[in-house]
Amino acid sequence: MSNAPPPAAGPLLETEGLGRRFGGLSAVEDVSIGVHRGEIRAVIGPNGAGKTTLVGMICGRVRPSAGRVRFEGRDVTRVPAWKRVAAGIVYTFQVTSIYGALAVRDNVALAAQRRLMGSPGAWLRLDEAALAARVEGALRTLGLDVHRDRRAGDLPYGHQRLLEVAMGLALEPRLLILDEPTQGLAEHEIETFCERVRDVASRATVMLIEHNMKVVLRLATRITVIDRGRVIADGDPASVEADPEVQRAYLGRR
Ligand SMILES: Nc1ncnc2c1ncn2[C@@H]1O[C@H](COP(=O)(O)OP(=O)(O)O)[C@@H](O)[C@H]1O
Ligand SMILES: [Mg+2]
Repeated sequence: MSNAPPPAAGPLLETEGLGRRFGGLSAVEDVSIGVHRGEIRAVIGPNGAGKTTLVGMICGRVRPSAGRVRFEGRDVTRVPAWKRVAAGIVYTFQVTSIYGALAVRDNVALAAQRRLMGSPGAWLRLDEAALAARVEGALRTLGLDVHRDRRAGDLPYGHQRLLEVAMGLALEPRLLILDEPTQGLAEHEIETFCERVRDVASRATVMLIEHNMKVVLRLATRITVIDRGRVIADGDPASVEADPEVQRAYLGRR
């Protein structure tokens, strides 16, 4: 046996020929991308391009018709969503899913508990102190600690979206997937949001599906452009912005 050093760490996430059909419609087709640790990867593309379907397959909510998903080098294509959460793949919904009548803190605690302990087999138990520490950490990162005792439903909408991210962060993800998190936010809320996502990115690799190009260009370290289910560009922000096909297929249509 040799003393060769271990192979260089590959991408955190890899998809290979990933595809999904709905009846006759090819929602996602032959998508092969790699996301490295520490990235903020933006995924952009017109409405109906297949972005939500793509991340649905990455987090296990949507079953692929073709291709594979690898996470930390391991094939997770057939691993159920709740087990992928345990592995560190966390997805926050495009539609806000907080409990308005509960305190901010309890929303975060409940999310962590439900997704970590309510899983079949109760494979992971958190004691109360560990849970409280996670919840506080997530609230602080999103700047919501001062609001911890307020009813979630009384928060301004922008804060509710941040709460949604805190609920994901409390699961201590390695990959946090945010699906159109700035949808419906006011301009000043978007500012705050961008700053908070930067803080989140110091703790987890982020995949950001985003419509607002200002947000994308401010945050993304790399951009993947999807059009009609296919990747039409993938690279650093400057080269993607300058790509003629991107301008024609996406930017030009806006
Ligand atoms: N469960 C489903 N059943 C049938 N068609 C679907 C389903 N989910 C998505 N689609 C279709 O797949 C395409 C891609 O949708 P989606 O992934 O939501 O796009 P995006 O998130 O980029 O707006 C759309 O044409 C959409 O109507
Ligand atoms: Mg979508």
